[in-house]
Amino acid sequence: MMEWETVHASGRRRVVVTKRLPGTRWLEILKEADCRVEICRSEAVLTVAEIREAIGSRCAGAIGQLTEEWGETLFAALKAAGGKAYSNYAVGYNNVDVAAATRHGIPVGNTPGVLTETTAEMAVALTFAAARRLGEAERFMRGGKFTGWLPTLFLGERLWRKTVGIIGAGRIGSAYALMMAEGFKMNVLYHDPRPNPRLEGAVREYGRFLESRGRTPVTCRRTPRLEELLKEADCVSLHTVLDDTTFHLINAKRLSMMKENALLINTSRGPVIDEAALVAHCKKHPRFRAALDVFEKEPALTPGLADLENVVIVPHIASATRWTRESMAVLAAANIAALVSGNPVWPGTDMAPFLGKPLPAAAPSVVNARELGLPVYRAP
Ligand code: DGY
Repeated sequence: MMEWETVHASGRRRVVVTKRLPGTRWLEILKEADCRVEICRSEAVLTVAEIREAIGSRCAGAIGQLTEEWGETLFAALKAAGGKAYSNYAVGYNNVDVAAATRHGIPVGNTPGVLTETTAEMAVALTFAAARRLGEAERFMRGGKFTGWLPTLFLGERLWRKTVGIIGAGRIGSAYALMMAEGFKMNVLYHDPRPNPRLEGAVREYGRFLESRGRTPVTCRRTPRLEELLKEADCVSLHTVLDDTTFHLINAKRLSMMKENALLINTSRGPVIDEAALVAHCKKHPRFRAALDVFEKEPALTPGLADLENVVIVPHIASATRWTRESMAVLAAANIAALVSGNPVWPGTDMAPFLGKPLPAAAPSVVNARELGLPVYRAP
């Protein structure tokens, strides 16, 4: 039995929130928009039937989670209940059938911009956890196996001045690429359907800075051929969206193209990697290392994955800093508050104005705004 709590019970607009969210600012935003907020306090993932029941016959909007399936059934229910808005509490929205939402005239919000550096930092952490074998070494220490320094104990990989391969050079991929280029002087190779002149320019500028100090510059190059990146990179980090074109993008054949001692980092979505193929590859190549924040059948792990010493696994926490998770709540609430009040959609990608006060009278990010013909905010 799911447990629910109601906040601002006198609000005229009923908003369903399927999980507790961090911080308090998001609740203030919904209160200011005259919303009665009903929050599910249970940690279990809600089924479609449970969410449909929560929507009931009167519901102005909903904030849902990436673990839930928001499709035809829920958008039809939301529409029938008088719903005006849905927001995912995530930047990714592969759990949402946006076409179904659009058919029912429901705008779909998401929470971009506030996860960028936080997620990139986690990708860096995972990169070095894999390169320097932190999981294995920690288990060794806690197991009481450390009997003294040895020249051969836990030899890992040095990344300094090597090549990092980025698959998906959007905001998070670019932030990670720059961290690796600036921090560890790695050359960047990226694979993305579109060139990213901003990333290339930033690395070039940093390369010039290094040169001006008499040091070897770093470089950045886009490769339209994924295979080239896989063969050349010492470390490959996944930052792509999950869709039909990226499902099992990293499969047995592509793993076999990577260097025998390469690193594979995934902070995007689990199904981008064929996990069974990864397990087989890691078993066969002990010097190959993977670090995963996301999993193909999350929260379940493919058999064998957790037994591998050369794989680091963490429970989908790349965006889990207090600042980011509270900011995501603010953006999700601001999406709902604006859309139920009939406000337009924010035109840019800079989310900073929503993190201060007063809140712009706009929905920060709506992925189907154009399809629905929603008006765009113009500064007064
Ligand atoms: C997102 O927002 O898509 C992330 O996966 C949450 O960490």
